[in-house]
Amino acid sequence: MVKRRFPSPRDLAPLLRFKKPELNGKKRRLDKALTIADLRQIAMRRTPKAPFDYTEGAAEGEISLARAREAFSDVEFHPAVLHDVSEVSLEREVLGGPSSLPVGIAPTGFTRMMQTEGEIAGVQSAEAWGIPFSLSTMGTRSIEEVAAAGPGARKWFQLYMWKDRERSMALVDRAAKAGFDTLMVTVDVPVAGARLRDKRNGFSIPPALTLGTVMNALPRPWWWWDFLTTDPLEFASLSSWNGTVAELLDAMFDPTVTYEDLAWIQAQWPGKIVVKGVQTVADAKKLATMGVDGIVLSNHGGRQLDRAPIPFHLLPRVVAEVGNETEVHLDTGIMSGADIIAAVALGAKFTLVGRAYLYGLMAGGREGVDKTFEILLGEMARTMKLLGVTTLDELEPGHVTQLERLRAKTA
Ligand SMILES: Cc1cc2nc3c(=O)[nH]c(=O)nc-3n(C[C@H](O)[C@H](O)[C@H](O)COP(=O)(O)O)c2cc1C
Repeated sequence: MVKRRFPSPRDLAPLLRFKKPELNGKKRRLDKALTIADLRQIAMRRTPKAPFDYTEGAAEGEISLARAREAFSDVEFHPAVLHDVSEVSLEREVLGGPSSLPVGIAPTGFTRMMQTEGEIAGVQSAEAWGIPFSLSTMGTRSIEEVAAAGPGARKWFQLYMWKDRERSMALVDRAAKAGFDTLMVTVDVPVAGARLRDKRNGFSIPPALTLGTVMNALPRPWWWWDFLTTDPLEFASLSSWNGTVAELLDAMFDPTVTYEDLAWIQAQWPGKIVVKGVQTVADAKKLATMGVDGIVLSNHGGRQLDRAPIPFHLLPRVVAEVGNETEVHLDTGIMSGADIIAAVALGAKFTLVGRAYLYGLMAGGREGVDKTFEILLGEMARTMKLLGVTTLDELEPGHVTQLERLRAKTA
């Protein structure tokens, strides 16, 4: 028989946890996010369906993206115990400069359509966190605006190369003059991938006011308020463009571009050069022979070729072949700091995040992007401590295996 007593107020006092209510709605929202998936949920509530789907979606059946994420969730870590892990460092030297984390912001187009602070939020957060920011050719703030907004950030410029060398050069010159230290040439877009969500949503830029979009806008008034009361979206890198967006997209992706054009750009650019969208060992070897400073193993976040190689699976073979000659970076599917640590353990020098930062941006502008990196940093540091390492250089392939069900038979 349990013996009961009457609780005294003195017993209750230490249990009471009434917090002062947080009056700042954005802070209240973001404080609740513990993972990137939580930021995604907030982003989805606040962003109209068409721009949210444009960000979240991938090409065709979205198989490339799903597989890339599955590969990360199928990682099995192998920790070493009884090491002093009280202090960890996540610093990394990348492309001749420092980064305080082994992750940077991937180039994304139309960023201001997802949330009005767009590239400015990205570059300023990158500056505050000490990591690189990549500006897309399809960015919605100009090279010069981004440079002025984040003077202390490391800035990389992503180029969609054209056969028309004068036009490519005009952009590249501006980026060099504005202090961008790295040119990231994206090579997995000879034509646009089939983004079926966009077709189904009747997605257009700027967004069209149809009955559907207006209905969808009703519970998301702040997105529309921001959109309608800030300067109109335009491709600020291409200020002289005077055609339609469809014409721009057609011009942007030039199916005639070859290795020769890459060599030409390489000869013109004064800084570091990285090739993004490498998906085979053979291409990695060819690029290393050309002397590029880095390659990004990427399938464009699954937005181009569907059923493309999983970058995380490709990584060990590419590192074994060219890791001594050029830096091997990786993106696609990263949703947690543990994904980044797994990639570094298998030899990635650096990683990039697209959606993970865009979910933060849509969830809360600049503060939301900061929250993305706060979450990733916490996850990275914790994973390293639990693995028994204190620096990125101590991570090694032995820390990671893949569950059998997804391991590539050819690996
Ligand atoms: C909304 C969106 C727009 C993108 N725009 C570009 C772009 O303009 N240029 C480019 O090279 N890559 C672009 N990417 C690809 C990213 O740079 C990166 O490769 C990809 O997002 C990585 O996958 P993750 O989103 O799973 O992190 C875009 C990705 C997204 C999600």
